[in-house]
Amino acid sequence: MAKYVCPRCGESVETSGIVTVCPSCHADLRGVVAEEQHARTRRAAAELLRDDSVTTHEYIVRTRGLTRIYRMGDVEVSALNGVDLDIRRGEYLSIMGPSGSGKSTFFNMIGGLDKPTAGSCYINETDMAQLSAHELAWQRCHTIGYIFQTFNLIPVMTALENVTLPMIFAGATSDEMLERGRLLLELVGLEGRLHHKPSELSGGQQQRVAVARALANQPAIILADEPTGNLDLHTGKEIIDLLKELNVESGVTIISATHDLKMIDVSDRIVHIRDGKIERIERREDIELEVGTLGGEQQ
Ligand SMILES: Nc1ncnc2c1ncn2[C@@H]1O[C@H](COP(=O)(O)OP(=O)(O)OP(=O)(O)O)[C@@H](O)[C@H]1O
Ligand SMILES: [Mg+2]
Repeated sequence: MAKYVCPRCGESVETSGIVTVCPSCHADLRGVVAEEQHARTRRAAAELLRDDSVTTHEYIVRTRGLTRIYRMGDVEVSALNGVDLDIRRGEYLSIMGPSGSGKSTFFNMIGGLDKPTAGSCYINETDMAQLSAHELAWQRCHTIGYIFQTFNLIPVMTALENVTLPMIFAGATSDEMLERGRLLLELVGLEGRLHHKPSELSGGQQQRVAVARALANQPAIILADEPTGNLDLHTGKEIIDLLKELNVESGVTIISATHDLKMIDVSDRIVHIRDGKIERIERREDIELEVGTLGGEQQ
């Protein structure tokens, strides 16, 4: 039994959630029950995702002189050119820059998917270059959640299977996997789509599954590479709001590459990168932007 307040007559109503009509004034309580249910899910998820690691380093990511040169035969491409950046724990950081400026390369370095040609990347003050292959795999599995522009879900798996897959690598039991998978899918609003395969979901829903999957092992950092790039304005905004909600309620650090101006509105800082270098860094409060314009237009 749970207690609700009837929005029409103010009566306090006790219901199991099955009876959804106020016994006094007969108002429809389905909205109130659904809202309470969602609030409960968010509280449970925030608890689950809360960063209770013993680490108290102010900066969750630091890079020093981060450089990546790709060699293709005789041709060298300097994709990253000495990037120094400190990212605070719990920050929402957007990385903006033209195509080819080095955003994805930077992500690959932080995410441990590629190694720098020179310079260093520290996660929780640990130099990633010092990690053994095993430690690096552990870090990729537990510390970082990834979201991609093209969702990258496994087509033959259901939403629930996609979300629980990373939990297998982290050694979760099947009961834990089911419980956490369901909670995360509920958190992203897909409680009715647990057994749908990606092809049976809309683009926005697929990206929601990808967000839930990124959260599978309670990461401290989410790396999102153009998460709204393949979504329409409205759906993109929903994903941005979802990431912001996670950032505020669970304290997960969000680092997102984007061309989407709506993302700026929720970011603490915006790092502009060009030709593999940081061009400038803006803080949200320093940017004069008309929020109304951001909601409706995309560049
Ligand atoms: N594996 C690779 N081999 C060779 N060159 C590469 C490789 N990956 C990236 N590059 C080059 O490095 C530069 C930076 O690429 P990167 O993918 O980081 O850009 P980006 O900012 O993510 O661009 P976009 O906005 O189009 O995604 C580009 O000039 C690209 O051609
Ligand atoms: Mg890219």
